[in-house]
Amino acid sequence: MQRLKGQLCVVTGAARGIGRAIAARFLEEGAHVILTDKDEATGRQTAREMDARFIRLDVRDEADWSQLADAAPAIDVMVNNAGVTGFEGGPVAHDPLHATLADWRAVHAVNLDGTFLGCRYAIGAMRGRGIGSIINISSRSGLVGIPLAAAYASSKAAIRNHSKSVALYCAQQGWRIRCNSIHPAAILTPMWEPMLGEGPERAARMAALVADTPLRRFGTVEEVAAIAALLAADESAYITGAEFSIDGGLLAGSAASPG
Ligand SMILES: NC(=O)c1ccc[n+]([C@@H]2O[C@H](COP(=O)([O-])OP(=O)(O)OC[C@H]3O[C@@H](n4cnc5c(N)ncnc54)[C@H](O)[C@@H]3O)[C@@H](O)[C@H]2O)c1
Repeated sequence: MQRLKGQLCVVTGAARGIGRAIAARFLEEGAHVILTDKDEATGRQTAREMDARFIRLDVRDEADWSQLADAAPAIDVMVNNAGVTGFEGGPVAHDPLHATLADWRAVHAVNLDGTFLGCRYAIGAMRGRGIGSIINISSRSGLVGIPLAAAYASSKAAIRNHSKSVALYCAQQGWRIRCNSIHPAAILTPMWEPMLGEGPERAARMAALVADTPLRRFGTVEEVAAIAALLAADESAYITGAEFSIDGGLLAGSAASPG
């Protein structure tokens, strides 16, 4: 069954990882997909492999969003997926005491400003027909505190809340434009590479990262894409302002729970 037949969907940060998998799944569901990313070389290569369209877009840049609006003035589905941890260049202090203001702002610029601009573009590109689905990729880090990645956690929490503002605003206007957030925990993508490293300790680091996850493994990009497909499709027409955890059970309990 092709649940997105003929729909025009835009995905940010689609060159690789979760964004790439969402784009691939939407194509399987019959959608027309515009992949976007700031990494033009990888983005173009990915789009070529999928026989899809690519537009270079740095989510922090308003001028890039204006160009996208010219190229795609009306869309059905928007996925605000592009995100950074702040550790792309290697280990940096991101705890509340030692994080620099510049590093704090750099993470928020991509994750939060980028999502704000993506929602603003999408509402404008959906309101003509008064229908659409906006999907924001937050994180389980948007639901709990992360002491050593405070900027990431703060930006992802703000995405969760902004998704609800967008959902309510669109509903108030009488539009059937929905907005929901997805909250993955550890999903194995290139984002983890700087933290996993190479060599004999890689396997031990991976195991340690999911040691507290009840299902004891990383999630897959396809598992996240499956939720995005559901939220994009008409089947979820009554779901807006909601949040979906995909975390192997991580947030189902706590260390303080009995047993
Ligand atoms: N992988 C996980 O475990 C995990 C968990 C929770 C949430 N997430 C979120 O999922 C999303 C995708 O993560 P991923 O693991 O696929 O990451 P990734 O690093 O593999 O891919 C991110 C993509 O975003 C692009 N990007 C970065 N900055 C950009 C910018 N300014 N403008 C446009 N594109 C930009 C990169 O070029 C890259 O292609 C992110 O928002 C991330 O925070 C990931």
